[in-house]
Amino acid sequence: MCGIVGHVGSEQAAPILLDGLRRLEYRGYDSAGVAIHTDGGELKVVRAVGKLRNLEAQLNASPLPGTVGIGHTRWATHGRPSEVNAHPHVAGPIVVVHNGIIENHLALRARLEERGAKIASDTDTELVAHLVHFKVKDGLDLESAVRAALRELHGAYAIAVLSKNEPDRIVVAKSSSPLVLGLGDGATYCGSDIPALLPYTRRMVFLEDGDMAVLTREDASVTRIDTGEKVERAEKHIDWSSVMAEKAGFKHFMLKEIHEQPRAIEDTLRGRLDRENADVHGHEIGLSDADAKAIQRVYLLACGTSHHAAMTGRYYLEQIAKIPTTVELASEFRGRDPIIGPGDLVVAVSQSGETIDTLMAAREAKEKGAKVLAIANVIGSAIPRLADAAFYTHAGPEIGVASTKCFSAQLANLLMLSIWLGRRRGTLDTNGARELVEGLAKLPVQMRDVVIGTRQLVANLAKRYRDARDVLFLGRGLSFPIALEGALKLKEISYVHAEGYAAGEMKHGPIALIDSAVPVIVLMPKDRWYDKTLSNLQEAMAREGQVIGIATEGDEAAQRLTQDVIEIPAVLEALTPFLTVLPLQLYAYYVADFKGTDVDQPRNLAKTVTVE
Ligand code: AGP
Repeated sequence: MCGIVGHVGSEQAAPILLDGLRRLEYRGYDSAGVAIHTDGGELKVVRAVGKLRNLEAQLNASPLPGTVGIGHTRWATHGRPSEVNAHPHVAGPIVVVHNGIIENHLALRARLEERGAKIASDTDTELVAHLVHFKVKDGLDLESAVRAALRELHGAYAIAVLSKNEPDRIVVAKSSSPLVLGLGDGATYCGSDIPALLPYTRRMVFLEDGDMAVLTREDASVTRIDTGEKVERAEKHIDWSSVMAEKAGFKHFMLKEIHEQPRAIEDTLRGRLDRENADVHGHEIGLSDADAKAIQRVYLLACGTSHHAAMTGRYYLEQIAKIPTTVELASEFRGRDPIIGPGDLVVAVSQSGETIDTLMAAREAKEKGAKVLAIANVIGSAIPRLADAAFYTHAGPEIGVASTKCFSAQLANLLMLSIWLGRRRGTLDTNGARELVEGLAKLPVQMRDVVIGTRQLVANLAKRYRDARDVLFLGRGLSFPIALEGALKLKEISYVHAEGYAAGEMKHGPIALIDSAVPVIVLMPKDRWYDKTLSNLQEAMAREGQVIGIATEGDEAAQRLTQDVIEIPAVLEALTPFLTVLPLQLYAYYVADFKGTDVDQPRNLAKTVTVE
């Protein structure tokens, strides 16, 4: 998730831009850059890979005096982290920074190249710069050129644009990516998020999707991109502290990231669902149709939360693509000399893309001749670099050590992979595919409803059971990995002993743990395993367990048989994990918060595990 900062005023721009970018560091980035209209009448760009201090060193060595400029921290989405892919991007007199994903970038690139554009980077952003440049060449001023260009773009963006020919202004626009404006005395600012602007002004204007604005020293004038009509957006006074602002007002990053999941799924699905043909655009999967048909077996390799996503993915691959699938803990796969080779597809699932066990396991599989596909959230990280292809999740940087939004995004990619394979292998017909694709498209709204609609009830339950010594999570089928994930989340951040169990296994041992002091959280959506789960629930009730059901809306049996029910809407069976996991994440969060543990940095844990 990139960061944008802009300033037009009378103070020096470079220190303001660097300071703003520093305040956006929490969003994660791999390179940074600024563009400044210099006092000498030039529009200069400086970019550097890595931390902001690298950019700062360059600016110290060759200062850029000037009072109008834009800055950017890049979190790679198209093209690896490198200086050439870093923002700002330049085309003739035009300079652009961008946050988001341009969906029609492939068609746009082809069109621009046909018109003679020389495109230096792998990014979708540089295409925007060239497109605006062509409009300027056609005789438009900066504002009109940006408006005309934006009308040709599909996808999510927040952009800020400078032109060498109009040094007194910044043109910005927003569609589905955040952008806020700041109003000062003789200065106007823009930023991806409030913290970037807080030291300079507390007078903020929040653009709406489809808005663009021209920022000058005097003011910011906002218009609609499609009609050109002028609109008034109310000025708001922000009295948050910087720390509160980084977390968008949430107490912890984890809580923010739980709430960001609908957006993470939207971004991950964007440009990949082919709703017209009930299919998935699979060019990133790196397989031909013939390869897809020839796969003998899939191995899913992962650790921790990603392993739970992989376990869910096995159901998808077996049910939808009808491919025998093995899920392996990456650390157990190695050293066992697994029987694997050409004809096998290995999918390495990792949020960080750097987990050493997953990396080494994928390397071993590759050496044995298997094709390796990475599902990772960090572009250009080690596992995608090693893999034959990378099918990235676009959850944005995850700051909380406990993975939440990356898990949901991994589920989305595993389901899309299964749909793509199922279509090619003839195991998924058009109607079945259409149901899944349409169901996926509806998910973000349903996820938002579940998070907002259940959080208070979940917080109450967490308060009631916060001192429980043990907690059991039970589920069958697709809900089994989610039960494991619920238990892992609780252990990680609240240090409460928790176990996830296949509900049918309970009577083979763990039932001995149940008594009136043990909360038992039963995942019981209306699916093919429902009746059997209901029997297991009754076994727990008979031992006086405190049963909380995560059940489908309107499930009367759940209401009757459990102490408390958290409801999720009825969705296709394959989509239930996306919804059932949400109250479990919230439960772990609230228990930890009541206990006062360090939610975002739990003891002994690291976000990226690079030791074996
Ligand atoms: C998730 O909450 C954990 N912090 C941990 O289990 C994590 O999922 C595991 O270390 C794997 O990480 P990865 O997805 O980056 O490979």
